[in-house]
Amino acid sequence: MAAKNKFSSRTGVIAATVGSAVGLGTVWRFPNEVQDNGGSVFLLAYLFCVLLMGIPVMLAEFSLGRGSGADAVGSFKKLTPDKPWWIVGAIAVVASYLILSFYIVVSGWTLDYLWLSLTGEISSVPEGVESTAYYSGIMNDAITSGFKPVMWTAIMIFLNLFVLLRGVHKGIERMANTLMPTLFVILVVLCGVSLTLPGASEGVDYFLRPDWSKFNANVLINAVGQAFFSLSLGMGILITYSSYYPKTTRLGRTSVTVSSLVFLVAILMGLIIFPAMKSFGIEGKTEGTALIFVTLPQIFEHMHMTYIWALLFFFLLVVAALTSTVSLGEVVIAFLTGRTGMSRKTACVVIILPLLILSAVSSLSLGPWSHYTLFGMTIFDLLDYFTANIMLPLVAIAVCIYVGHILPKSFLEREMTNNGSMKSLIFPALVFVVRYVSPLLIAIVFINKIIESL
Ligand code: PFF
Repeated sequence: MAAKNKFSSRTGVIAATVGSAVGLGTVWRFPNEVQDNGGSVFLLAYLFCVLLMGIPVMLAEFSLGRGSGADAVGSFKKLTPDKPWWIVGAIAVVASYLILSFYIVVSGWTLDYLWLSLTGEISSVPEGVESTAYYSGIMNDAITSGFKPVMWTAIMIFLNLFVLLRGVHKGIERMANTLMPTLFVILVVLCGVSLTLPGASEGVDYFLRPDWSKFNANVLINAVGQAFFSLSLGMGILITYSSYYPKTTRLGRTSVTVSSLVFLVAILMGLIIFPAMKSFGIEGKTEGTALIFVTLPQIFEHMHMTYIWALLFFFLLVVAALTSTVSLGEVVIAFLTGRTGMSRKTACVVIILPLLILSAVSSLSLGPWSHYTLFGMTIFDLLDYFTANIMLPLVAIAVCIYVGHILPKSFLEREMTNNGSMKSLIFPALVFVVRYVSPLLIAIVFINKIIESL
């Protein structure tokens, strides 16, 4: 029988970690970023960042979690008990909770859209109504109408709780083992449909043939941000999940598999969206949510079997969102159970009420309360800005410094070689990158974002 607080197999390790990583960042944010950053060159810049920054930071977090076997705060406390490095873990836990409080709102919209797909509302534009206006109306209603988005957010919170209450093995791992293969099958099916549409090759070209004239420093900076977001770096998720990895898990191999699968999902998403868009001559709207919630339903409307494609696509979004929100919640649950000794059940009860309130506030801040702003931003945007641009980069830089400079080099080596029982070919390069390259790259992006917003 599997241990209570461990993933029981290599498949479970990969499915859960990929489940956390593949979320709205890859299925929703990525295609928008491609459109905003010169198409195919963004894809290459993203690949470069995944390799140079994503995998090393991921390995630094894996080694912390697996090496200590503790939650995000506990791992620092265990490894350096007399120093205040645990504050980095504490920032990560707070960041996870704050991110969860607005990310779950967007996840609620995906659930609403799944419901609208089931009822057929998404696949049938009423006679005489212009389709952009119709879908924009549905989107506005899903996001800004006050009660409805709050209700879907609450339902999403309870779905999360259902998984989290069942624990690491029976909850998180089993969910990921079932849902992640389903997600890949849906992606491949939708991709096949899109690629066989007439004129699809124009979209493939746009997405895959590099046009270097579009490349500039901003493309690279945005790609670092996307790599960060899509690989769940800098928020304690990977520390927490890797504390559930068996001692035999090969961290190097796992990080490469996870990153490759996330990259594959990004490619598949691009191959679903761009060929279909070009095929029907629909220009993608890039502002925020519209690409997924307005443009895609319009594309489905042009296809045969609209109902099925819409249903599959929004189910895919819900799966991506759910497996990621669960990982954010688990960071907080692991912290509460690990640090205070409370049971998982009590921890769930402790987090739920403030989460319901905070997420309701961030949802309402996009609708009826949108006139309340701070620094010119709604609560929703403020939470997003503060966590993504400030907290996450700071945690990631600190993790690199901690693993690269504070802990002895032998710590990372021990984790990379499973206590010397195997060889790690990438170890020497990894140490260099974790010590110097990754923190520098993240710092450049961090400073740039700060300057941009002044
Ligand atoms: N990596 C997931 C995604 O791309 O959606 C989940 C995630 C967690 C994203 C936390 C961003 C974030 F700040």
